[in-house]
Amino acid sequence: MDEAVLARGLQVRSVVKTFAGSGDEVTVVDGCSFSVPHGTLSVMLGPSGCGKTTLVNLIAGYEVPTAGEILLDGIRVRGPGAERIVVFQESALFPWMTVLDNVTFGPQSRRGRTDAAFRERARALLADVGLDEFAYRYPSQLSGGMQRRAELARAIVNEPSLMLLDEPFRGLDAMTRELMQEQYLRLFEAHSRTTLFVTSELREAIFLADRLLIMTPRPARVRRAIDVDLPRPRELGMLASARFREIYEEALLTLEEPTWPTAATS
Ligand SMILES: Nc1ncnc2c1ncn2[C@@H]1O[C@H](COP(=O)(O)OP(=O)(O)OP(=O)(O)O)[C@@H](O)[C@H]1O
Ligand SMILES: [Mg+2]
Repeated sequence: MDEAVLARGLQVRSVVKTFAGSGDEVTVVDGCSFSVPHGTLSVMLGPSGCGKTTLVNLIAGYEVPTAGEILLDGIRVRGPGAERIVVFQESALFPWMTVLDNVTFGPQSRRGRTDAAFRERARALLADVGLDEFAYRYPSQLSGGMQRRAELARAIVNEPSLMLLDEPFRGLDAMTRELMQEQYLRLFEAHSRTTLFVTSELREAIFLADRLLIMTPRPARVRRAIDVDLPRPRELGMLASARFREIYEEALLTLEEPTWPTAATS
């Protein structure tokens, strides 16, 4: 395989992030390394406050690492860029635009894509997430789950090299959340964008992931990466399979392992 192919995807190398507040410095990420191979979905799982959102902000280029480096398709991240799209838990839809205008806004403003073919593609993506009939509604006229689906369509229409999803389904009721997971997987399986998905829900993590990245408590580092070899396309029924249970137990044991203080934390 040539170098260019090997370099595709996301690489996080020995990243450290220290925040200097008014008082003491706090190290939130310490020597964190992992990779997300091109076209695959890695799910980051870890305790609340361990530093997941901080890592997302570093990869998005909203924050600068104190040490280490982050590469996407072999190119070092030096700030925000349109090839990396972040979907956070909070809705980021523009309330004054229709759903369709929200979806087409990015490529329209950046690349002048106003042609009929592009709008057709945006409509097709809305249909993929079950929002065809809501294209001309405003975000406030949609339920929480529908707003998340509109955001996923908006992220994918940009054809980003990397999608960063930070707990996009947190706060949804259990049934809506399961539906969202299935619908999101259909989108991922159809478009297979290199993706880092953050969640604190283990079942969700295994159901979605090609690879689980189980983090340590703060400061964040990958404690263990587990490849999830469940076949695709995935169905919710797989959550009852023997292989799912094996992976679940393995991940749970890792999450529950005691953490010994390291030089950086003691
Ligand atoms: N700008 C900042 N300055 C100082 N400390 C910060 C800053 N941003 C984050 N932190 C601290 O870093 C730690 C990790 O925060 P982060 O939001 O990354 O955690 P998280 O894993 O995403 O948590 P959750 O699962 O609750 O979303 C927290 O203790 C937080 O207070
Ligand atoms: Mg967070």
